[in-house]
Amino acid sequence: MIALGINYSQMHDSSACIVRDGELLFAVAEERISRVKHDARFPQLAIQACLDFAKISAADVDEVCFGWQPIGRLYRHDLKLYAGGRWPLDYLNFTNSTRYFLSMWHQESGSAPFRRLFGPCKARMRFVDHHLAHALSAYGYSGFDDSAIVIMDGRGAWEATSIWHGRNGRLDHVQTINWPDSLGFFYARFTEFLGFTPNSDEWKVMGLAPYGKPGVDLSQFIDVNANPPRVHYGELMTGGNSLSKMIAALGPVRVPESDISDHHKDVAFAAQDACEHAMMSIVKLALQKTGSRNLCLAGGVALNSKANGKIAASGLAEKLFVQPAASDDGVALGAALAPYLDSNGKLPSKPMRHGYWGPCFDDGAIESALKTYKIEHNRLSDPTGTAAQLLSSGKIIGWFQGRMEFGPRALGSRSILADPRDPEMNAKVNNAVKFREWWRPFAPSFKKEAAPEYLVSAFDSPFMILTAQVRPDKRSVIPSVTHVDGSARPQTVERDVNPLYYRLIDEFGKITGVPVVMNTSFNLRGEAIVHTPTDAIRTFFSSGMDALIMGNFLVEK
Ligand SMILES: [Fe+2]
Repeated sequence: MIALGINYSQMHDSSACIVRDGELLFAVAEERISRVKHDARFPQLAIQACLDFAKISAADVDEVCFGWQPIGRLYRHDLKLYAGGRWPLDYLNFTNSTRYFLSMWHQESGSAPFRRLFGPCKARMRFVDHHLAHALSAYGYSGFDDSAIVIMDGRGAWEATSIWHGRNGRLDHVQTINWPDSLGFFYARFTEFLGFTPNSDEWKVMGLAPYGKPGVDLSQFIDVNANPPRVHYGELMTGGNSLSKMIAALGPVRVPESDISDHHKDVAFAAQDACEHAMMSIVKLALQKTGSRNLCLAGGVALNSKANGKIAASGLAEKLFVQPAASDDGVALGAALAPYLDSNGKLPSKPMRHGYWGPCFDDGAIESALKTYKIEHNRLSDPTGTAAQLLSSGKIIGWFQGRMEFGPRALGSRSILADPRDPEMNAKVNNAVKFREWWRPFAPSFKKEAAPEYLVSAFDSPFMILTAQVRPDKRSVIPSVTHVDGSARPQTVERDVNPLYYRLIDEFGKITGVPVVMNTSFNLRGEAIVHTPTDAIRTFFSSGMDALIMGNFLVEK
């Protein structure tokens, strides 16, 4: 069976993947190909890339699986909220709901553009409940037999948080907390209050939080002591999409790009702290209700690596799997598994050990791009040795190798790398390459065997989706990847999973005695991670990077 998974909601992060006989073959977010960050349009390019990779046409696909319910169910939930006075019924809100409904209804929730763009096909069009698709994207790739599954996001059709129990390849629904009692909504509102883009810049709040101190009371907005925690959404959203109650309680909204005050830091601290408490409480509830010792997480809130790290370190669960594409791009992965549950069927059990599901460009394509732009380059016999030498001499390099990552993190395929031992390297990479906020930390990639020497937990962290504390005596050894609170967001690299990247870190370790490199995504601020050699070349020459290694080719400035 060939199943095509699709995320298309017009909200954010459209994506597609292809699963053949239960095995994930390929996945890519539309933004990487279209170059529009968080692209929410119909993922035409991503679907075509899936078909091209599998060397098939749409006529060969058996199941087209969308990770959203038919749009009518979402609109009905909105109307119920308006009718019950639970959501401000004003011109802006009602117009937005109705326009969204009509647009998706006209597109038959995505099946109409699919048929129009890819022609008539035999495939069944399937619309998977959004949180079920998230749950499948976590449990279906965890490799666990028995697990509690917690989904937390901004919103599904009606869902905001849900708990599931996976057993023996099947999923049982346990509990759902409906939108707008939503932890994702809570965090998005504070992201907006702090002058950032909601549903996009939540990382910035998380990175800023450790600079703040306790003292800001958010009990007006969330009750973290309730079981499950309750979001007081009426305080976060007043008529006309206004933040007026937040402003009354916390002062003026920060103007985007303006200076960060101590008060902003303290608000970020309080929002992150509340989110961590709420997540921990929901996880406890899920483990208690399912009686399971294992835990899977997905949904946009599960990108909160700081909270994930605390959950992992708490020992509440024996094993933890966080779907690396936890946001809506990942529902394509889950939706494509839904057909396996038909007729009381079982999910295929293929644990996900890496994130390299995207397109690949061989040396021929790379050399062709370099020649097209008349860029001087050298062919390398061993890119890892050259990269390690450059890094150890303080150079910042672009590293473009193999299949592109799926999910928000660069994991050594489309990465910018630097020396983590230099305390100034954080500022150098920020100022020369990333042009991003000073407080956002960079992450380390470790040889997996070396992680326990440097970290107190997260020794198995292939996806950079949870944080750990750096051992106090090692903080000065890798200062540029240690955050102000002593934490880091590690990637542990295994020899079998990514031999090339592993070798690079190993070579760097042989030269320096520190088998760790600084790894940040290969993109400029506000842009999607690079996809093609052309994207990489353009980004390289638009930044202060010193060298670019693509495949076996080296470009230096
Ligand atoms: Fe979602």
